[in-house]
Amino acid sequence: MSDGLAVELRQVVKRFGEVTAVESVSLQIQHGEFFSLLGPSGCGKTTTLRLIAGFEMPTSGDIIINGEMQGHLPPYQRPVNTVFQHYALFPHMTVAQNVAFGLEMKKVSKDEITRRVGEALELVHLGKMGSRRPKQLSGGQQQRVALARALVNRPKVLLLDEPLGALDLKLRKAMQGELKALQEQVGITFIYVTHDQEEALTMSDRIAVMSAGHVFQVGFPEDIYENPNTRFVADFIGETNFLHGTVHRRGPLAEIAIAENVILPARWASDELPAGSSATLSIRPEKILIASGDEKPPSDGEFVSVPGQVAEVVYLGTDTRYVVRIVDGVQTVVRVQNLEMGNKRFKVGDAVMLHWRVEHGRILKE
Ligand SMILES: Nc1ncnc2c1ncn2[C@@H]1O[C@H](COP(=O)(O)OP(=O)(O)OP(=O)(O)O)[C@@H](O)[C@H]1O
Ligand SMILES: [Mg+2]
Repeated sequence: MSDGLAVELRQVVKRFGEVTAVESVSLQIQHGEFFSLLGPSGCGKTTTLRLIAGFEMPTSGDIIINGEMQGHLPPYQRPVNTVFQHYALFPHMTVAQNVAFGLEMKKVSKDEITRRVGEALELVHLGKMGSRRPKQLSGGQQQRVALARALVNRPKVLLLDEPLGALDLKLRKAMQGELKALQEQVGITFIYVTHDQEEALTMSDRIAVMSAGHVFQVGFPEDIYENPNTRFVADFIGETNFLHGTVHRRGPLAEIAIAENVILPARWASDELPAGSSATLSIRPEKILIASGDEKPPSDGEFVSVPGQVAEVVYLGTDTRYVVRIVDGVQTVVRVQNLEMGNKRFKVGDAVMLHWRVEHGRILKE
């Protein structure tokens, strides 16, 4: 049993009257994994988490935790705890009393409560703050109390719903690092909900990208970023150029025509499409090399080379962002790091040549 999965969802559907919040979601989450549900507002992340926790019951489908069918088990009988965005600490209790509350309800002995509360507060670096009240703590410290309150129950799985959403950017960054370190230390499976793609990329072992109740792609952060399988995922994670065209030739290496005489080779992101279908070539801005018109691409591998004209230059400190027109009405964004050893700089109006490795161009269904 325990060498199986921590959490499994099998074709889970959740409807609220007319609204389908979750549409046939299947997921397999490993023990000890930091697994994120990522997607825009309203895509069904919280509903999925509430289904796992037992605050909602699925319309159909099964939820299995630690090898056991959850059926209609109520939340308190499931081996999970949830940390919410609005963590609602009891204001009239001390930090230690807040953390102890759940254990007292379970009639755990006084000695054990003291010991476990102490351990939980140490884990979140609040060992010396047990006697304070929540309002005497910063936002980040309050969020850590909420974490300690969940961890003290020693759940098999911790569910976190945008737990850092209420914090300002700097504190959120710091807490991201802390949470990740904490998760590695305690070895508990974390299921983490966020709509922040950078947060998901930096913290997760794996990510499920959701939209409109569906899971579009599950993978390692690098996979999701480098090999998005749909236009939605490519667009949601990072910046991407989309070049519209028609499939000119199929085969393992396809060709897509973005203008009458501009035909570009690329890889399929998912299923092959017949010649003549409309399709989109996606290419990340940092994968494109920008060079003078007469400069050849590197010789190690196959490159696509397209002439263009610089339309816009924006200096961003670490990077420069170029907008390059490649045919009438078609522009691509190119990002170049501003290295000490000097990448050549270009200005508006310059004729340039863009080069990228064939394998970095991916063809997505329209
Ligand atoms: N109790 C409910 N009754 C009716 N509709 C609901 C209910 N809960 C959620 N929904 C709907 O289900 C969909 C998914 O909601 P959910 O809260 O899961 O989204 P989310 O991905 O968590 O969004 P956010 O990032 O804004 O928190 C939305 O359209 C929402 O309006
Ligand atoms: Mg939500």
